[in-house]
Amino acid sequence: MTVLLLAGTGEAKRIAWGLADKGRRVVASLAGATRSPDPLPVPTRIGGFGGEDAFREYLAAEGISAVLDATHPFADQITDRTARVCAALEIPYCQVLRPEWSAQDDDNWTAIAAPRDVADLVPKGAVVFLGTGRQTLPEFANLEGRRVLARMIDPPTTPFPFEGGEFVIGRPPFDLKSEMRLFKALGVTHLVVKNSGGTGGRPKLDAAREMGLPVFLLDRPKAPELSETATRVETVQGALAWVAAL
Ligand SMILES: NC(=O)c1ccc[n+]([C@@H]2O[C@H](COP(=O)([O-])OP(=O)(O)OC[C@H]3O[C@@H](n4cnc5c(N)ncnc54)[C@H](OP(=O)(O)O)[C@@H]3O)[C@@H](O)[C@H]2O)c1
Repeated sequence: MTVLLLAGTGEAKRIAWGLADKGRRVVASLAGATRSPDPLPVPTRIGGFGGEDAFREYLAAEGISAVLDATHPFADQITDRTARVCAALEIPYCQVLRPEWSAQDDDNWTAIAAPRDVADLVPKGAVVFLGTGRQTLPEFANLEGRRVLARMIDPPTTPFPFEGGEFVIGRPPFDLKSEMRLFKALGVTHLVVKNSGGTGGRPKLDAAREMGLPVFLLDRPKAPELSETATRVETVQGALAWVAAL
C-alpha cells in the first residue's frame, strides 16, 4: 500500500515526519512553487502531474492506494481534482483542512470575497501589506494610488505586475515581534491576508491587533463535496490516525 501525500504546507511537513517512522510506504508531492523547499523525510516528487489524465496515470503507475491531501486551504484546483479523481477510482481520500481564523474582540477584521474588493475599502495613500502570495497578485491591480507591498518567499524573477507595488522578501517562520518590526519599518496601514487558518500565518494578525491595523481577510474557496470513500480532518493527528486506520 502506498499513500500519496500532497504537500506544500506546514501540516504536510509534520505529517511526513509522523509517517516516516511508521514503516508505511509514502510518497510526498510538492507543486514546485518554492525554489528551495525544506526536504521531507519521505521520498518526494516535485512538480505538477501534468493535468488530470497524467495524474490518473501517475496513481496507477505508482500503485497509489490512498491519498492524503495536505495542501493549502486556498489550493482549490489540486484539491477539487484529487477529490473527484479519487472518488471516481474509489481510492480513499482524506483532506487535511485546518479551521479558519476567527476574530477576537479587539481585532479589526473585514471578510472580503475577492481581491478586487480591497480597493473599495482602502483609501488612496494607504500602505497595504499583501500576505496573499504570488498567484493572486495581478488581481490587486486596481489598488492604484496606494503603496502595495507583497511578501514573497523567493526573490522575484519578474517585475511587480502593476505600478505602485514592491516585493518584500521573507521566509517563514515569522513571529509577533518580527512582524511588528516589519510593519512599523514599512509604515503599513492595512493588511490583506487569506483566511488560511493555522499557526504559521497567525503572527501577522496578532501584530495587526497590537498595532490597531485593519485587516481584510479573503474568504476561502469552497471545500469539495466528499464521496463515500473520502473524509476530512482538521489536524495532523487526525491525518496520522486516518493513515493508521487504512
Ligand atoms: N494557494 C495558496 O495560497 C498556497 C499557500 C501556501 C502554500 N501553497 C501550496 O502551493 C502549492 C500550489 O498551490 P496552488 O494554489 O498553486 O495550487 P492549485 O491552484 O490548487 O493547483 C494548481 C496546479 O498545481 C499543481 N499542484 C498543486 N499542488 C501540488 C502538489 N502538492 N503536488 C503536485 N502538483 C501540485 C497541479 O498541477 P498539475 O495539474 O500539473 O498536476 C495543480 O493543477 C500547493 O501544494 C499548496 O499546498 C499554496
